[in-house]
Amino acid sequence: MASLLYATFMLIAFLSSSAVCFAFPGFNFGWGGTGGGSGSGGGGDGAFGGSQGYTGLFPEFYSFSCPQANDIVMSVLQRVIAKEPRMAASLLRLHFHDCFVQGCDASVLLDDSVMFASEKNSVPNSNSIRGFEVIDEIKSKLEEACPQTVSCADILALAARGSTVLSGGPNWELPLGRRDSRQASLTDSNNNLPPPNSTIQILITLFRRQGLDEVDLVSLSGAHTIGMARCTAFKQRLYNQDGNDQPDSTLERTYYNDLKTVCPKTGGDNNISPLDFDSPARFDNIYFKLIMGGKGLLTSDQVLLAGNVEGTMFLVKAFAEDDALFFDQFARSMVKMGNINPLTGYNGEVRNNCRVAN
Ligand code: HEM
Repeated sequence: MASLLYATFMLIAFLSSSAVCFAFPGFNFGWGGTGGGSGSGGGGDGAFGGSQGYTGLFPEFYSFSCPQANDIVMSVLQRVIAKEPRMAASLLRLHFHDCFVQGCDASVLLDDSVMFASEKNSVPNSNSIRGFEVIDEIKSKLEEACPQTVSCADILALAARGSTVLSGGPNWELPLGRRDSRQASLTDSNNNLPPPNSTIQILITLFRRQGLDEVDLVSLSGAHTIGMARCTAFKQRLYNQDGNDQPDSTLERTYYNDLKTVCPKTGGDNNISPLDFDSPARFDNIYFKLIMGGKGLLTSDQVLLAGNVEGTMFLVKAFAEDDALFFDQFARSMVKMGNINPLTGYNGEVRNNCRVAN
């Protein structure tokens, strides 16, 4: 009875926090936006950044200046993802790694310069994030069609949405108008991006730092329904999870045995394994079903259920049972993540080349 009451309460709380406005945040400063002001963090509950609401971004941002922007992005993605389905996952992740560091400002794309060290060399990114050539190709096509108009930060957001859709996931109305930073932060990249062996408390803390709540944490972790991870990201679970030379007790036995063949005790650190071995290229809710069976690949996946936080445990079960609920919440949380601290108006710039500041 108590658990039924709790479940009902959670569902109501969850729906009231998420079933909010796809209401348009209001027209404002025209195309190219002047002085839109930068929102600070995804903040609050709503799809458009919740309580702080207004970010200066809006879906029609390029309606006059580059109406074909999304079509250009999609045509490149279609070709690239048909050839290599994993690229969808890599591009989705790139947007996440952008937004958690200084906000969604394309800082992740900047190469080393005399002014700063590139985020590409941070611990979470080095030898891991991919997709830069695809972003370059999209950018050069956009520069041909609409010179100096579409920012690299918006390209990352459009590519993340397009990759989700092309993998079979949800679509959403995407606020646009982000501008590009002139700086990157290697330190923030190391400090803000969650490590794969994170406890549930660390995950909650790092998401909260970005204005994202437990609902966002669980739904956005569902991005791990596509893509791969290197052995180095989950090896500890196989051989020495708690410093006692024992495997992670929350890891299902047959899955554990399979993983050991991919990831031996010594060597093989760059061998890769799917985050969702059942359907690694299809965006669906099987990721959550696998977690229910002890088959989450990363510690950070499995602790959503095993971490003893009732809110995240409840959501894993709810998303495992209802793919429409997951799709709907994923879309809302992606908008919220995409609204983290954008540069708008006269802040930042539209880079000519996504790898270097103008
Ligand atoms: C909750 C905290 C998260 C942690 C600890 C985490 C960690 C990781 C790690 C370690 C990998 C494998 C990287 C490698 O081995 O090279 C990975 C892959 C991936 N992550 Fe996450 N991640 C998290 C959240 C997210 C979010 C919020 C998204 C997107 C919305 C995302 C999207 C992806 C995707 C799509 C891949 C596969 C990339 C590929 O195949 O190239 N992750 N993540």
